[in-house]
This record gives sequence, C-alpha cells and structure tokens, in this order.
Amino acid sequence: MDITLMVNGVSRAVTVDPRMSLLDLLRERLGLIGAKKGCDHGQCGACTVLIDGRRANSCLALAVAMDGSEITTVEGLAHEDELHPLQTAFMEHDAFQCGYCTPGQLCSAAGMLGEPGPSAITDDLLTDPGLTPEEIRERMSGNLCRCGAYVNIVSAIAEVAP
Ligand code: FES
Ligand code: FES
Repeated sequence: MDITLMVNGVSRAVTVDPRMSLLDLLRERLGLIGAKKGCDHGQCGACTVLIDGRRANSCLALAVAMDGSEITTVEGLAHEDELHPLQTAFMEHDAFQCGYCTPGQLCSAAGMLGEPGPSAITDDLLTDPGLTPEEIRERMSGNLCRCGAYVNIVSAIAEVAP
C-alpha cells in the first residue's frame, strides 16, 4: 500500500506491506536506526518514537496506519546543530546509558513533557501533580534498561520538566 508520512520534518512516500511495523519501516526502509528493536512486543520501550507528538512503541504500530502522520525519531529531536534540551540535560547529568535503550528514553521523555495530568500513581486525581521525581519514574517505567542501571535519568528530565 502507498502511504505518505512526515518523518523528522521530511515528507516520505513509501510503499509498504500492510503487515509492516512502523519500527521496521523506519529502520529498514528509511535508514533511521535510532529507534531500536528490543523486545518487538511493546515491553521494553527501546523503539519509542513520537507519533503526532505523542510517544508510542513503534514496534506495535502498523506502518500503513501512519499514513498522513508526523513521526519524530531520536534523530529528529535536535534542530540542526542545536541539541534538544533533554539531550543536553542527559549529558550534563551523565544520564546517557547504552545506545540501545537511550534513544527510546529520550523520545519517551520528550513525549512525557507534553503529557499533563495524573498518572497511575497519582493520589489526588483532581490536581495536576506536576512532574515530581516520583511521577517521572512512573511515566518512564515503560522504558527498560536490561542492565538495571537507571542512574541520573530522573534528575536530567527534572531539569527540563516544566
Ligand atoms: S521493541 Fe518495541 S517495546 Fe520493545
Ligand atoms: S539497556 Fe541500555 S544501559 Fe542497559
């Protein structure tokens, strides 16, 4: 099927197998290998990208359903020579982990910054809790590091959080 989508600000017209995932489209057809295939089952977050500004696991999204969508991958977070504030904060706080999990963490964090309102751990559902360290941990819990090392990610995100 023929689809057209905007990827990192560039219009891309592609013919896809209706069974192809967005992750495979990005990596294998468009050469954008920042998003990683970890579990391919929606469990690790390594494949996280932004679809129309909202974070999503690209391994679970069908490419054909993305017709007309705007996709941002980790390659598209920076603007020319200017890093995304999260990328700068991750460097300053020594929050970068391996190349496998970090792209998903950055995209997930970028999406999270635009997601106000309560999460699964918020006690008072009538009040916006803000991105406290506890809320950041909960909202990043879909991005797993198989090494179990999550040093400094929360402090990096907290610096950029509104
Ligand atoms: S590869 Fe998509 S969630 Fe793990
Ligand atoms: S999976 Fe990337 S540092 Fe553990």
